[in-house]
Amino acid sequence: MDINWFPGHMHKARQAIARVMPSIDVVVEVLDARLPLSSQNPLLHELKGDRPCIRVLNKADMADPRITTEWIGYFQREKGVKALAMCAKNKKEAMKIIGLCKKMTPKRDYLFKPVRVMMAGIPNVGKSTLINTIVGREITKAANQAAITRKPKHIDLKNGVVLSDTPGILWPKLQDKHGAFLLAASGAIRDTAMSYPEVAMYTGNHLLGRYPDLLMQRYKLKELPADGLALLEAIGRKRGCLVRGGEVDLHKAAELFLRELKNGVIGHISLERPQER
Ligand code: G4P
Repeated sequence: MDINWFPGHMHKARQAIARVMPSIDVVVEVLDARLPLSSQNPLLHELKGDRPCIRVLNKADMADPRITTEWIGYFQREKGVKALAMCAKNKKEAMKIIGLCKKMTPKRDYLFKPVRVMMAGIPNVGKSTLINTIVGREITKAANQAAITRKPKHIDLKNGVVLSDTPGILWPKLQDKHGAFLLAASGAIRDTAMSYPEVAMYTGNHLLGRYPDLLMQRYKLKELPADGLALLEAIGRKRGCLVRGGEVDLHKAAELFLRELKNGVIGHISLERPQER
């Protein structure tokens, strides 16, 4: 798979974020709870300085709850950082961010000087969904296609908090094949930029060692496949992804597997663990 850090875009995003950052009180970084490290953007950490930061482990409804708890502990070790796990569609959970933003900026007359909060994150982690839930109506467009979010620049919640959009698109930093493949499997990379069989085989292999029971159950397998390719072949045969002559259509099987993984129907799966960092 082609690994690219989009240097031109990142340069523009860096300049735009650096311009806005002085007016920001709290940075909320939305991460994918299933892969919190790979869904971070290092640029944001560099530019946020010592501002308080909330790491939102979003899509926690699809992640392995035990691993999510470990991630919360991992992130909270950092000074000035709070971590929250949630499903962005859950209003009660989403509103905890607002309460926490106020707690992190004490001694403030919110009426005269609302807390300015930057909501940031790589495409497809759920920023629009989260903002829509907090605001209580659809003001940003959510879509499961990386990088097509459009939203207004500032949203005054009229409760002492103003949400600010991150200027520019924060692409994920694809440092290595491992992170790139897992990001692609999570839906953070545009479909056109990835090879389905390659990503599915890599991710399948990764998951065979971690969640063998979930895979066996979902695809009604009698034996655990030896590797990612064998898993795709088994899925293809079970689900009728075949070409003429009875061979497995690897592309179709890969598409099906990645769609089910992205939608969380295989089970509660975390793709990264803190101890493997
Ligand atoms: P972005 O602004 O960061 O780019 O992400 P966006 O909100 O557009 O969300 C991307 C996809 O992830 C959407 O799926 C959205 O519904 C889904 N999503 C966001 N947060 C959560 C969450 O906490 N849990 C789960 N399970 N899904 C989440 P979609 O299929 O394109 O949209 P829709 O069909 O759900 O409307």
